[in-house]
Amino acid sequence: MSLNYKGQNLFIDNTSIKGIAKKNITPFYVYSYKKIKNNFETFYNYFKKVSPLVCFSVKSNSNVSILAELGKLGSGADVVSEGELLKALKARISPKKIVFSGVGKTDNELKLAIRKKVLLINVESESEALLINKISRKMNRVTQIGIRLNPNVDANTLSKISTGKLDSKFGLPSKNFLKFCKSSKNLKNIKISAISVHIGSQITSVAPYKRTLNAIRKIIRLSQINFDYVDLGGGFGIQYKNKDKKIDIKKYSYLVEKFQKETNCKIIFEPGRYIVGNTGALISKIVFIKKNGNKYFVILNAGMNDFMRPALYNAIHEIVSVFKSKKRISGKIEFVGPICESTDTFLKYKNFPYVKEGDYIAITNVGAYGSTLSSNYNTRPLASEVIVKKGKIKIIRKRQKITEII
Ligand SMILES: Cc1ncc(COP(=O)(O)O)c(C=O)c1O
Repeated sequence: MSLNYKGQNLFIDNTSIKGIAKKNITPFYVYSYKKIKNNFETFYNYFKKVSPLVCFSVKSNSNVSILAELGKLGSGADVVSEGELLKALKARISPKKIVFSGVGKTDNELKLAIRKKVLLINVESESEALLINKISRKMNRVTQIGIRLNPNVDANTLSKISTGKLDSKFGLPSKNFLKFCKSSKNLKNIKISAISVHIGSQITSVAPYKRTLNAIRKIIRLSQINFDYVDLGGGFGIQYKNKDKKIDIKKYSYLVEKFQKETNCKIIFEPGRYIVGNTGALISKIVFIKKNGNKYFVILNAGMNDFMRPALYNAIHEIVSVFKSKKRISGKIEFVGPICESTDTFLKYKNFPYVKEGDYIAITNVGAYGSTLSSNYNTRPLASEVIVKKGKIKIIRKRQKITEII
């Protein structure tokens, strides 16, 4: 991440976290613009030879200011709801760069997407395609769709974020895909322009992507359709801990280059985590410290409602102190939230720099699926979000007022 110590004090890029914390109610999310830009450009450059359209996956971070910054860098958007579509449009991302995914889009969502002429609606069932055809006919339109293939590929990631196997709810298995291509010939108000896939998230090896490319090749051959686009989805894993495996995107890019030469389709990607995951931290204050048995509980004012991934996936996000003491606490230390759930716990340590009540800590790498998964559980307001750009601190979402949720 872009957190680093100067002496004993934690900084994000060159801005002191303590300085930001003094002016904002904790907990709050803080992001580095520099890191977001760097990640986007790094990702694009890996695939530069195929000039892909990169549609940032809005579900990973839907802050409108962040979407607008990504839009300025050339990003499109991958959206999965009316709300995400409206946010992408508000961020001035052109509908021509928006793809709409999701298994259960409603009438209203489809009407909006059709009316706004998004680049692709990636359909996930025959019924959805029929509904798009019907709505488009009424609007006197021909709508470009992609069909999401379920390639029956194991992404070798957590089962809860795996989406490409036949037993998952996503996409059409190849048999149904091919059957639909034939039967849809008389649907005059849709045009099948793309194949889309997304096999899961936090993927750290190239092998599942390679198998997916092969599954797509087969579909292209058997369907005999000239697809304009192939949307290869997202899923690129990041290093949450130093020893985590790093995905070899360079290696994958060679496979994509070869695939693109063969098929001559425009390539789309939908990365989320890779672009923003390591760009943000959640800053929280220590409310109390107590010792139960032989364990210290460090109770934070951030809870699982603010940051859900540890409770939801047992995800590990390192915690660092905003002022790093030279003394250490040793023994069992567990960082927990204030919520009335045993799963409201963040991480355990065997030793940690000395901290006391009232100190600030940072939960790291929370830029993706952090604020977007937060909730009002326990009737707690949503935290504010702040971005640091060229040394300036900007609030990009105000803390929710408690009166808004009463
Ligand atoms: C259809 C689709 N595309 C893209 C993504 C982004 O995935 P990631 O953040 O792992 O890149 C997701 C996330 O689950 C998704 O469902």
